[in-house]
Amino acid sequence: MANRPKHVLVTGGAGFIGSHLVERLLGEGQSVTVIDDCSTGRLENLQSVQGHAGLEIVQAKVSQCANLVELARESQAIYHLAAAVGVELVMDSALKTIESNLCETQVMLDAASASGTPILLASTSEVYGKSAKAAFSEEDDLLIGPPHLSRWSYACSKLMDEFLALAHAREKKTPVVIARLFNTVGPRQTGQYGMVLPRFIQAAKKDQPLKVFGDGSQTRCFCYVNDTVEALVRLQNCPAAKGEVFNVGSFEEISIGKLAELVIHILHSTSSVEYVPYTMAYAPGFEDMLRRKPIVDKLKKYVGFQPTTSLRQIVEWTAASIQ
Ligand SMILES: NC(=O)c1ccc[n+]([C@@H]2O[C@H](COP(=O)([O-])OP(=O)(O)OC[C@H]3O[C@@H](n4cnc5c(N)ncnc54)[C@H](O)[C@@H]3O)[C@@H](O)[C@H]2O)c1
Repeated sequence: MANRPKHVLVTGGAGFIGSHLVERLLGEGQSVTVIDDCSTGRLENLQSVQGHAGLEIVQAKVSQCANLVELARESQAIYHLAAAVGVELVMDSALKTIESNLCETQVMLDAASASGTPILLASTSEVYGKSAKAAFSEEDDLLIGPPHLSRWSYACSKLMDEFLALAHAREKKTPVVIARLFNTVGPRQTGQYGMVLPRFIQAAKKDQPLKVFGDGSQTRCFCYVNDTVEALVRLQNCPAAKGEVFNVGSFEEISIGKLAELVIHILHSTSSVEYVPYTMAYAPGFEDMLRRKPIVDKLKKYVGFQPTTSLRQIVEWTAASIQ
C-alpha cells in the first residue's frame, strides 16, 4: 500500500458517509478540507471533530468554490462524495439530481485532472439498474429504465460520472478510482430522504408501524459505514486500483420485510409491520429492484478487505445512535 496522503479534500464531507471518512482521516493524523453545501448533510455530523486544527470546512457547492483547482493541487488525494442522494430526493427533482451529480462531478474531475491529484469517485449500485441477476460484478451489463421514469436519473447521472472519470483516467492520465457503493448504513444516516434503516429504527423506537413499501420481498445487503470507509481509504491508497471500478458492499442479504421484523425484535418494540403499495409510497415513475447484492471479490483481491460487520450488530449500533 502506498504512503498515506497528508492533506485530503473530501466533497460531501458533512454528509453521512463523508463525516465518518473525515473522522477517520483526521484520526490518522491527516489534514482535511471539506467542501459541502449542506443540502442533505449537516455540520453537526462533524461535531466530534469541530475545531480540529487539521480540519477546514468550505460551505459551498463544489462548482462554486472559486479556488477549487488550488484546493485540489494542495491535496494529495480527493474523495468526491458530494451528490444528490436518496430515493425521495431523486423522485422530487430529476433536474436537481442530474445537475448535482453530473455537473458538480465534471467540475471536480476537471480540477483533479488540472492538478493531477488522485481522486476517488463514490458511485452507486443503482447503476446496475433493474437487472434480475442474483449478484452483481463490475463487468456486468447495466439495465437502466427509460428517461420518463425519473427515478433512473440518479443511476444515469452516476453512470455518466463513471464514464467521465474513466475518460479522464485514459485521456488525461488522472489517477481515478470508482467505488460503486451498495446500501451503506450506520449512525448519522438520516431517514429524511427515504433511507430504510433509520426510518425503521425511528418508528420501532416510538412503537409506531414500520412501513414496508411493496410486498417486502425485495432484498438488500446493508454495509456498515465504517466498513465502507475502510474500503474507500484502501482503494484510494492502492496504486493498482487506479482506472478501475469496484463494488463496495456487504453480501449478507435480507428482504425488507425481514429487516422490519429484525429491527422490531432487536429493539423489543411493539410496532407492527405495515405494507404500503409503491403507488401510494412514491410519485408515478417509481420502479424497484428485487435484489441488490454485490460480488466483492475484486475489492478483496486488490485491497485485501471485504465488509464483515453483521446486520444484527449494525442494527444495534445504529439504533444506539438514534434518539
Ligand atoms: N448511503 C448509501 O447507501 C450510498 C449508496 C450508494 C452510493 N452512495 C454515494 O455515496 C456518497 C455519499 O452519500 P451519503 O449517503 O453520505 O449521502 P449524504 O446526502 O449524507 O451526503 C452527500 C453530501 O454531499 C453534499 N452535497 C450535495 N451536493 C453538493 C454539492 N453540489 N456541493 C457540495 N456538497 C454537496 C450534501 O450536503 C451531503 O453532505 C454519494 O455520492 C452517494 O451517491 C451512498
